[in-house]
Amino acid sequence: MLSIKSGLRTGLSKVILRTFATDAPAYEPNYKNFKVYRWSPDHPEEKPHMQDFNLDMNETGPMMLDALLKIKNEVDPTLTLRRSCREGICGSCAMNIDGRNTLACITKINKTDGKEVKIYPLPHMYVVRDLVPDLTLFYQQYKSIQPYLQTSKPPPEKENLQTIEDRKKLDGLYECILCACCSTSCPSYWWNQQEYLGPAVLMQAYRWMIDSRDDATEARKQMLQNSMSLYRCHTIMNCSRTCPKGLNPGRAVAAIKKSMAFE
Ligand code: SF4
Ligand code: SF4
Ligand code: FES
Repeated sequence: MLSIKSGLRTGLSKVILRTFATDAPAYEPNYKNFKVYRWSPDHPEEKPHMQDFNLDMNETGPMMLDALLKIKNEVDPTLTLRRSCREGICGSCAMNIDGRNTLACITKINKTDGKEVKIYPLPHMYVVRDLVPDLTLFYQQYKSIQPYLQTSKPPPEKENLQTIEDRKKLDGLYECILCACCSTSCPSYWWNQQEYLGPAVLMQAYRWMIDSRDDATEARKQMLQNSMSLYRCHTIMNCSRTCPKGLNPGRAVAAIKKSMAFE
């Protein structure tokens, strides 16, 4: 097969003919191994184990979620994981990748380091199947802090207004997508999750405590006034280090403690 490349140089027209049949570069795959946690309730006799999937990076999208979906779509359809938005908004693809709790859809694959990737479900949670953790307790805890506006004032005709300053106080709090990466990275939550609310839920408790439109601040504080719900936090700050949205739940927990002590 012949390919023709032509160009104009110093007014002269040149025609270069090259034969590609012999010197076309051979295809070089770029393999990377993904070790993925597997467990199925359909086979309770089989212990949880890691399964290897070797993927050609030339044919895989840029993010960890792309790799997992490639495995699911092309290699093993039984691989089970949660995902929805694929852009860091829904929080459903939270998992532990190479030792860090994060969102698979916004975590880039390093395609050149030649290192294996290890993917587990969020740690210290019951597993429903493969990479899907049971978040029932997490959502019950979220419900328990009554994450909605409570006020005795009559409903406004249009909107419940706030000053610009009061609205600003909610920045860094309202953006939480409840992915549970922070709570499941917290050692206090690992050992006491039946009673300790954990950083994600506490940050939302704080979000409502400081909302200028909410009148239930004292009642909200009272709910946390016991030895377990709040005070199991020992300011280790794993939560803030891991948050894939760059939020600081550890600081919010500390702010609740401060307001309980001084306000
Ligand atoms: S700061 Fe508190 S909530 Fe955050 S990881 Fe440490 S103990 Fe857990
Ligand atoms: S604070 Fe961050 S890590 Fe924790 S639930 Fe919210 S978004 Fe996820
Ligand atoms: S798929 Fe929604 S956050 Fe990853």
